[in-house]
Amino acid sequence: MRGLLTSLLLLPFFAAGPAFGQTADSAVRAEALLGRMTLEEKVGQLVMTGFDEAFSTDILERGGAGSVISFNDPAAIARAQEKARASRLGIPLLIGLDLLHGFRTLFPMPLAEAASFDAELAARNAELAAREAKPAGLNWTFAPVADVARDPRWGRMIETNGEDALLARDFTRARADGFRRGGLAPTLKHFAGYGAVSGGRDYDAVSVSDFELQNIHLPPFRAALGPITTVMTALTVLNGMPSSANTQLLGTTLRGKWGFDGVVVSDWKAIGGLIDQGIAQDEAEAARIALKAGVDIDMMSGIYARYLAAEAAAGRVSIQEIDGAVRRVLALKFALGLFDTPPPDPSEADRAALTPELRAAARASVRDTSVLLRNEDGVLPLRSGNIAVVGPFADNAFDQLGPHEARGMPEDAVTVLEGIREHAAKTGARVHYAEACDVACEDASGFEAAVDASRTSEVTIVVLGEKREHSGEGASRATLGFPGKQDELLEALAATGKPIVLVVIAGRPLDLRRAAETAPAILMAWYPGTEGGHGVADLLFGDHAPSAKLPISWPRSVGQAPLSYDRLATARPYEPAARYTQRFLDEKIEPLFPFGFGLTYTNFRYSTPVVTPGTDGAAANVSVTVTNEGARAGTEIVQLYMRDDVASRVQPVKRLVRYARIALQPGESRTVEFVLRRDDLGFFDEDGHLIVEPGTFRFGAGPDSTVALDAIFTLAPP
Ligand code: BGC
Repeated sequence: MRGLLTSLLLLPFFAAGPAFGQTADSAVRAEALLGRMTLEEKVGQLVMTGFDEAFSTDILERGGAGSVISFNDPAAIARAQEKARASRLGIPLLIGLDLLHGFRTLFPMPLAEAASFDAELAARNAELAAREAKPAGLNWTFAPVADVARDPRWGRMIETNGEDALLARDFTRARADGFRRGGLAPTLKHFAGYGAVSGGRDYDAVSVSDFELQNIHLPPFRAALGPITTVMTALTVLNGMPSSANTQLLGTTLRGKWGFDGVVVSDWKAIGGLIDQGIAQDEAEAARIALKAGVDIDMMSGIYARYLAAEAAAGRVSIQEIDGAVRRVLALKFALGLFDTPPPDPSEADRAALTPELRAAARASVRDTSVLLRNEDGVLPLRSGNIAVVGPFADNAFDQLGPHEARGMPEDAVTVLEGIREHAAKTGARVHYAEACDVACEDASGFEAAVDASRTSEVTIVVLGEKREHSGEGASRATLGFPGKQDELLEALAATGKPIVLVVIAGRPLDLRRAAETAPAILMAWYPGTEGGHGVADLLFGDHAPSAKLPISWPRSVGQAPLSYDRLATARPYEPAARYTQRFLDEKIEPLFPFGFGLTYTNFRYSTPVVTPGTDGAAANVSVTVTNEGARAGTEIVQLYMRDDVASRVQPVKRLVRYARIALQPGESRTVEFVLRRDDLGFFDEDGHLIVEPGTFRFGAGPDSTVALDAIFTLAPP
């Protein structure tokens, strides 16, 4: 380490004083450095290379790549950084990795975090992840995902905040803030519309209306822009134009209207994808199109490396265009302080990992993100001293971590079985475990042992789900059933007559129609991560009460997808007895569980909400009193929904405008006051202008999105 530090002190741009976040200063320093660079060195800053078996550090030594991806090993990262700093100009590397839900300590996935309706939780976890990853040498992360997802067939739904634009906005911003606080540059991705891929098929084209684009898909990006922020293009085509060639999106909207002057990075080989998408005829043209559209860094297609210098020499791209992109990359590096601080000592990385603070936050997050979907006859919390634990996901550390594991390792994780055993050891409860089948669950030969375990116990906890490869990128599904014979296992266990608690480990809402008839209690634990078993046991045994609510509408069957509670008003709203209204002939129109739904171990009563004209510049105030009527303390997520009765564009039948988490003791009441500004009542037009139209608005406050909108308010003209 001493050698490394000494050589760093001799580097040309090792200046005094931190530049972190000082963007004006960064721009000046970037300009000075730019003036010393050859064309090849400039192009190098726009090239990202990745760690694989073929990787050689030669490219870094000659300044041929300004950023790297897929490095998660601190020693390898340090080596790469050292090589880059030994290049002619000693420009440090951006070292990026997807930190979707942590680095070594894995938190619940983003969709789960959104279920907490607590953006501060997401901000804290992002900051903790950054603080764990930074000592390993990372300085950039390809997160947060700002996409809005409404189709559970799309495997990447688990990486998003679900279907709601307000939650997506709040959580994306919170995570970006958290990463910045922890010293990593965040990446808002995937710009834009990726969450609406046709038919839920990953990478398929996206066709969305201007209204949907402006009001649903763009706001989370806009809300999260800030210092040291980068934006990643999507692999997809938006309304006929690939993101990486989309001058409207990248030029007019992002850089123009929003004034974003940071780095735009392509998604993985997305520049090469322009050829497959039929927009570029060859790689040279793809390079030109992407650079001119505003893509600064080429992630892994190698096309900028192969063609940009020649294209510039031939005058087909201008030096100004290249300089603009390089300037942004260098400014980010200066703003991150990479020139001013030595890279971390890799031998220190482990000390920052899996600390008690990280584990405690991960465990608390599982408690705040697992959604109790059903609890008939008060099966939960568990009282029994004799418990069967069954199923392929009960003792399965690998799958519970979920996709995008970064540096997360199964050996660090606490499984559901381990969490239950640990708890049972304290109370003297007996635990009988049977795996029943593997995750594919094609072979039912282990069912009998599971049924035996169930028969000799008072309650059975069955842990079912989908393996982690079934979720995330390239994991679209055409069905939503539990893979294999898991439903049959559930039925065999139910036949014992013993109460069943179903814990679901999955990245999307699975088809729970059969399960909802056989399991009196259902807990959706998503992919709960490293501390999954502890957090789930805390809830099952009632040491903590669940509080999370669904950030998605949970469909009954796949035919209902895409599904969201905020659909636009139609000429034929659903009426149960009327054929020619918005409905299916063979399926209910309502989801199995609505957006915003989730139970706890107590009951809350809501008063009729009251809406009054706002004071001090507010448009309206809505107040509602919530009372804990049960015998246990609990946390309720109070949700305020709104409808604009008449507007110049068709509006959603309902949309979430505010939410609040409140903790209430048994018998306690609290009045929640929601203050709405005029802007909250408006919508974005086709050009992204906010329009607020006077007229009547309806509000409803309650425990989920089925709440009636009975409180009427008239907004006067300004
Ligand atoms: C994904 C991105 C990710 C990138 C690097 C791509 O295939 O779409 O979300 O950041 O890979 O891992």
